[in-house]
Amino acid sequence: MIRVENLVKYYGKIQALNGENFTVNDGEIVGFVGLNGAGKTTTIKIASGVIYPTSGDVFIDNYSITKDKKKASENVGWVPELPIYEQDVKALDYFVYIAGYYKIPTSEARSMGKKLFEEVGLSGRENDKLKNYSQGMKKRFALAVSLISNPKNFLFDEVLNGLDPEGMQFFKNLALKLKKEGKTVLFSSHILSEVESLADKVVFLHKGKIVKETRMEDLRKMISTNALRVVLNSPSEEALKACSSFGEPTLNNGVIIINNFKGDTEDVARVLKPYGVLEIGYVRQDLESLFFKIIGESQ
Ligand SMILES: Nc1ncnc2c1ncn2[C@@H]1O[C@H](COP(=O)(O)OP(=O)(O)OP(=O)(O)O)[C@@H](O)[C@H]1O
Ligand SMILES: [Mg+2]
Repeated sequence: MIRVENLVKYYGKIQALNGENFTVNDGEIVGFVGLNGAGKTTTIKIASGVIYPTSGDVFIDNYSITKDKKKASENVGWVPELPIYEQDVKALDYFVYIAGYYKIPTSEARSMGKKLFEEVGLSGRENDKLKNYSQGMKKRFALAVSLISNPKNFLFDEVLNGLDPEGMQFFKNLALKLKKEGKTVLFSSHILSEVESLADKVVFLHKGKIVKETRMEDLRKMISTNALRVVLNSPSEEALKACSSFGEPTLNNGVIIINNFKGDTEDVARVLKPYGVLEIGYVRQDLESLFFKIIGESQ
């Protein structure tokens, strides 16, 4: 579990966090969203123990990151926003060196490294120098490193950014696997469609404060409207008429939109079966608009 409590952070005169509070429960994947400069990376860095808050605290499985830093940071895996590895050493050698911090013996670390490199899609590149890795490869390497201590909590900062489609899929599967194991995942992302497909809960950060915390099922309800959209193989005025008992249907470019929809989508599908139903579903607002609405409401 990750619990952020009244977190305040100043960088000199700049206030990056302004009394931030939220919790990520065990077995939960939480999407952390906000505009550039909202304070996501600052929060994640504080939670992973690399920088200190001005006040407030983060608890990792009830260990305070400020008062019990060793215990707290042992229990958290972190993938930085921009993993910078300029080491002039072979990737696997560096992995073994980092594993040393966790008191993992060299031979064990090497076999663990080979396994994790394969898992993150870096097999065959173990002996390349880290400084020659691409940005996406560095991200994958950081992912492998975050798994070394088998922590219960994970902080992924813009991990999807810079990954290719295969890398994104790998990351999503990994997050779902961690969740199944009852682990805790907080991931920041600007790719709202990915947040929607992965997160159980979304935490909206704006100007260093949480402005909304919503479960995904509630967010989906907020996005969907009460208009039903039906795409037919052979749309016609007759098909349109057949929909009139469900609301106020209109036909446009072969697509029927039933405004003020009342009823059951399955009934609509049954009634329209003779016209070949290709698609049926609620009209959605896009997630981006909702995001800006939530931020707007907070101001
Ligand atoms: N080392 C630093 N020194 C001074 N100001 C900083 C430092 N790091 C971050 N800031 C400031 O703190 C605020 C929050 O930055 P942060 O990097 O946490 O935002 P973010 O939500 O991660 O943004 P992005 O979406 O661009 O990654 C910004 O105003 C930023 O300029
Ligand atoms: Mg950031």
